[in-house]
Amino acid sequence: MVLLKSSQKPTSEVIVVGLAAREGKLVVESGDSGLKELTYLTQLADLGATGAREEVIKIPTNTHATHRLVVFTGLGEAAVSSEYPHEVLRRAAGAAVRSLAGKKSVDFALPHKNAEGFAAISEGVALGAYSFNAHRGTSRDGQKPPLASATIISKSANEALSKNSLKRAALLSKYVHLVRDLVNTPANHLSPSAFVATMKSKVAGLPIKVEILDEKALKTKGYGGIYSVGQGSANPPRLLHISYSPTNAKKRFAFVGKGITFDTGGYALKPAAGMDAMKTDMAGAASVIAATLAIAELKLPISIHAYACLAENMISENATRPGDVITTLSGKTVEVLNPDAEGRLVMADGLTRAVADAEKTGGLDGLIDVATLTGAQIIALGVRTAGLMGNNEEFINEFMGVAESTGELFWPMPLPEELRATLDSPVADIANVGDKSGGMLVAGIFLKEFVPPTTPWLHLDIAGPSHVDKDGFGYNPVGGTGITVRSLVALAESAVSHS
Ligand code: BES
Ligand code: MN
Ligand code: ZN
Repeated sequence: MVLLKSSQKPTSEVIVVGLAAREGKLVVESGDSGLKELTYLTQLADLGATGAREEVIKIPTNTHATHRLVVFTGLGEAAVSSEYPHEVLRRAAGAAVRSLAGKKSVDFALPHKNAEGFAAISEGVALGAYSFNAHRGTSRDGQKPPLASATIISKSANEALSKNSLKRAALLSKYVHLVRDLVNTPANHLSPSAFVATMKSKVAGLPIKVEILDEKALKTKGYGGIYSVGQGSANPPRLLHISYSPTNAKKRFAFVGKGITFDTGGYALKPAAGMDAMKTDMAGAASVIAATLAIAELKLPISIHAYACLAENMISENATRPGDVITTLSGKTVEVLNPDAEGRLVMADGLTRAVADAEKTGGLDGLIDVATLTGAQIIALGVRTAGLMGNNEEFINEFMGVAESTGELFWPMPLPEELRATLDSPVADIANVGDKSGGMLVAGIFLKEFVPPTTPWLHLDIAGPSHVDKDGFGYNPVGGTGITVRSLVALAESAVSHS
């Protein structure tokens, strides 16, 4: 992980500054660094620089200059009085840091007007400094490590607020990187039990309780959703439940995550092309556990129970057949018309359990589930924007407001009542697939069956935004993104600040 520092003056041999454009003219945005922009404008023009977002241009200087290398990172259209949206800063810092792998020490002099701007730059740097080489063998030596040390240049470098922002950025990126590591890990190295073991090791030192249900417990206690999805695999299913309950908790939230360590589709076998991406089908589970660890490490006064619903969706003589009827933890029976709609089956049990656990203590102030649930999410919103559904307008608006500040992209989608009838089964209480059109919403409607209407509930479908297929962007390299971790933490912070 990159070491984050701050300073009022640049001292490193490499400096990152912003580059914007106004009416076709380049504008260097070097924040509080005092860099003389006139020195570079001709060269930038010669190099064809446009200042567009995601553009990173490096100019070596002559040896007697303060900096040996100046890195220009695109900010897009020049902003009035250099006041850029925080996500623009976060991404510009991230794009630059991704291009600086192998470097030891770099100054980041980007324009910012307040502590939030400073924080965004810090986050972009910390999030972008990531690589995943755990499974390289002979090619490992050729890989450059992420940037080792970054200094944020700011007039307010020495203020307590700035030092706090650096700490928070380091903490958040640690947990976002944990999610990326797990999402990037191939399924032959990440079974449900391996997921549990990794997360258990991360709990050490935090005030968190851990409960693990193995396949036997899942079967005898009636978790028919999780069990039936996992029963075809030699790597048996698990439910991982972690809880953080500080004595000063002002509210109680539960997070439920989809943890399919590999999704072949089961007897609705997916085509081979692209199936490898299904190692990422546990991103929701990784995110909810990681967010809970972050909230505990931040010592927020809120109780969080997080549930990772873990199974591997495989084919074998033991696997669930199309048409099988299973009994979920709720008592509701489900006709599994399509074994590839497995996420909703494991999530149904997770939601039921989360609600049941909170019943004894006066219920939940919020229930949030996170799942790489449907290809239809990608059709509807693309690969960068997650779908957001829920049963409570106020809770939806609160989350949307918080997500806006983190830069993670969510878009509210409806749960039209009439879609419920498409899930009617002639033999069971509900079928696991309904209308093909509006597939993301149908999946949401299915989950809604397992949530009491009085519990404020959000469903986040992150099928697309959980990972980047090719070409990283902003602070996201190729592979897992860790989306939802920062918004869940921000939601917890917001929930306790106005209670
Ligand atoms: N894990 C997939 C959804 C998915 C697709 C995630 C692409 C990431 C990228 C999920 O389990 C699935 O297979 N969903 C089916 C549901 C259908 C059978 C109703 C789908 O979307 O095709
Ligand atoms: Mn599936
Ligand atoms: Zn799946």
